[in-house]
Amino acid sequence: MDRIRLGIVGAAGRGIAYEIPASTDDRIEVTAVCDVSPEGRHRAQEAFDAAQSFSDFHDMLWEADLDAVLIATPKEHHVPQSVAALERGLHVLCEVPAARSLEEAKELVRAVESSDGTFMLAENDVFRRAWMLVAELVADGRLGDVYYARSERITSGKEKMERSRWRRTWRVGRNGITYPTHNLGPLLRWFPGDRIDRVACSGSGHHYTDPRGEGYEQEDSVVMMAKTEQDHLIVHRQDILSDRPACGYRFELQGTGGCFESAAHSGDEHRISLQDEDADGQWQSLTAFEAAYLPEMWRELPAVASQTGRNGGDYLVFQSFVDAIESGSSPSIDVYEGLDMTLPGLVSERSIAADGEWIDVPDPREWSA
Ligand SMILES: NC(=O)c1ccc[n+]([C@@H]2O[C@H](COP(=O)([O-])OP(=O)(O)OC[C@H]3O[C@@H](n4cnc5c(N)ncnc54)[C@H](O)[C@@H]3O)[C@@H](O)[C@H]2O)c1
Repeated sequence: MDRIRLGIVGAAGRGIAYEIPASTDDRIEVTAVCDVSPEGRHRAQEAFDAAQSFSDFHDMLWEADLDAVLIATPKEHHVPQSVAALERGLHVLCEVPAARSLEEAKELVRAVESSDGTFMLAENDVFRRAWMLVAELVADGRLGDVYYARSERITSGKEKMERSRWRRTWRVGRNGITYPTHNLGPLLRWFPGDRIDRVACSGSGHHYTDPRGEGYEQEDSVVMMAKTEQDHLIVHRQDILSDRPACGYRFELQGTGGCFESAAHSGDEHRISLQDEDADGQWQSLTAFEAAYLPEMWRELPAVASQTGRNGGDYLVFQSFVDAIESGSSPSIDVYEGLDMTLPGLVSERSIAADGEWIDVPDPREWSA
């Protein structure tokens, strides 16, 4: 097979995170990079050894020789750029989240279904070693009937909202769960065959202002309760604004056969308690299950991959996209799964505006023409 010719937009920002995955995959040739920053564009062109560089995405689409694009621009560009690339028949790997509104989400589904190109959401946390291990344990029935999960994303990120202003607009300039996919992505893999079909969302009020003295539209801690089609319960908290140390991601999972708790602080271990005869409910380190349950893609991970984000998650998300193009099979996070982890956040914005009312989350599979 000829090498896949890839163009990267937003190449100087998040795009650079794909330098190792793209340059170590001999199925890939980065033919073009695009970024509005002249200095960044130059840096990215050198990093990816790309033949061409562009300041305008549409110039890249029409002038470069491309089979695929990686979209690593701010959130407001994800759907317009994905749709334009899909209409050109290109394969698309797009950064998270998938869309900004239900209307954009529908537009994206229509474009994917009418295109010869494939679409994958680049949700790298789905590929984290520990979260994949938990998914394997769930799939093997070790946690029994899994019925409850709690997750948190606490990033203490006010400064970052000023460094990249699109985040001030789209992440904390809206009220609700505005960045859900890093949590809902891995977590929904622990509820196989299920999806979130309704949410209720509330917040803790406003206690901080931005450097201009303006209040954030987002409340400081926002909590979403979600029920799945199979009537399981998920509770998720997003906190970007509170003055406190960041703690990244926290998860808890409960089933009839056991439970899982992610490490609360650095230095702690992920732990699991199983109700079977051998374990008798005692806490064990999650790593004790690696020998039996670590997925193949993690066993075969090249050493260089651990230098990429999520200790290899960025490498695996990219590799999965290339595998899908090469084999012609469905990508590991297709548009429907990508929207299953995006839409609850969008609907939470409506719920919080309606004083926590439960609101249905649409199933994007039902939008098919
Ligand atoms: N999956 C992850 O772990 C992860 C991590 C960080 C960011 N992201 C996502 O990646 C995206 C970008 O985030 P970021 O932190 O790189 O943002 P950023 O603002 O730091 O950088 C974005 C880059 O895109 C360029 N750009 C902006 N508009 C453009 C346009 N119209 N055409 C071409 N280039 C353009 C900018 O010059 C910049 O180099 C966001 O959607 C974010 O959510 C994902």
